[in-house]
Amino acid sequence: MELFDVYPLYNITPVKGEGCYVFDESGKKYLDLYGGHAVTSIGHAHPKYVKAIQEQVSKLGFYSNSIKNPLQKELADRLEEVSGVQDYSLFLCSSGAEANENALKVASFHTGKDRVIYFENAFHGRTSGVVAITDNENIKAPFNLGHKATKLAFNDTDPLKAEIEKEDVAAVIFEVIQGVGGLDEASSEFYKEAAEICKENKVMLIVDEVQSGYGRTGDFFAFQKHSIRPDIITMAKGMGNGFPIGGILIDNNISSKYGMLGTTFGGNHLACAAGISVLDAIKKENLMQNTAEISEYIKEEAARIPEIKKIKGRGLMIGLVFDFEIASLRKELLFEYQVFTGASANKKLLRILPPLNIKKEHFKSFFDALKKALKSQTKKIEASS
Ligand SMILES: Cc1ncc(COP(=O)(O)O)c(C=O)c1O
Repeated sequence: MELFDVYPLYNITPVKGEGCYVFDESGKKYLDLYGGHAVTSIGHAHPKYVKAIQEQVSKLGFYSNSIKNPLQKELADRLEEVSGVQDYSLFLCSSGAEANENALKVASFHTGKDRVIYFENAFHGRTSGVVAITDNENIKAPFNLGHKATKLAFNDTDPLKAEIEKEDVAAVIFEVIQGVGGLDEASSEFYKEAAEICKENKVMLIVDEVQSGYGRTGDFFAFQKHSIRPDIITMAKGMGNGFPIGGILIDNNISSKYGMLGTTFGGNHLACAAGISVLDAIKKENLMQNTAEISEYIKEEAARIPEIKKIKGRGLMIGLVFDFEIASLRKELLFEYQVFTGASANKKLLRILPPLNIKKEHFKSFFDALKKALKSQTKKIEASS
């Protein structure tokens, strides 16, 4: 049987991972500055993570959500402690799209309303409700177009006010730093004012921290820098270091009722064990501090490279902007220098999303490779013009 062909693939087969490296079947070593798309938060095959999963699966890997699972409460308590957010409740699911889908549902149940405001360049996932509030018409099927969703310009509160005054809006959703969209971050004033407008009008503010959360920006959640309090926070990627787990934090002012949300796999024993070990590592290994420090180093080094025209993002969610399209540069970094990097909707932006325990020496070798690759890319560009 063939696989349903939806992913353009690089001709590389990683079979092993260790820290910030992955290895292919011939033993070739790749520096992972992509983190499997911002997922590998504490590093590949982190020993405590491996141990936690092995021990849990040998006891009980799964049972349904119809029984008591103390690991869910342990995860919630650890999350509160490590993230510093308070007076929220946790609902567990298995992916980023599912987290956002559930957040929209909670907002709609709570307000009794059905329209959602999203922003230009947003990416919130591929299931029906969240693809409807994603700014990419190419990935919406006719079935997805039935939702009441309104797209607005990012960083402008006037249109937001005007839409909310129509009194049919359940939720406003944004990524504080847009990932797939290309690392744009609005001003603190925008976030604060948007939060205020939502509060005054009893509209739910959903912050999508699926990519930016779990320490990736140097803060546990990216919104914390802007001192706002979302009604609902969604999480996934870094949460399980690759084990599929997502979640939403719901303000305690929003009440729950049986059957309102549910899932078979969400919050299972194995997922919780993985999630708890990730939080342990983030805390015990000071990974948020490391993220902030390495980020400064990257920004300093990148500023010395003339071909880099702009540095976007925060922490280890960085975009290096060039004045040419980077597809060929990315390929050269991967195939000539064995460095994984990421792309985005902005074709001139190289994305850096490594494990949060990465060290300066990894970036030293990246910048050496980048400088060499830039030389050969410049030659190619000159030859073709
Ligand atoms: C900000 C954001 N939200 C949601 C999603 C969807 O997550 P998933 O692919 O786990 O469904 C992504 C995935 O890239 C994302 O970056």
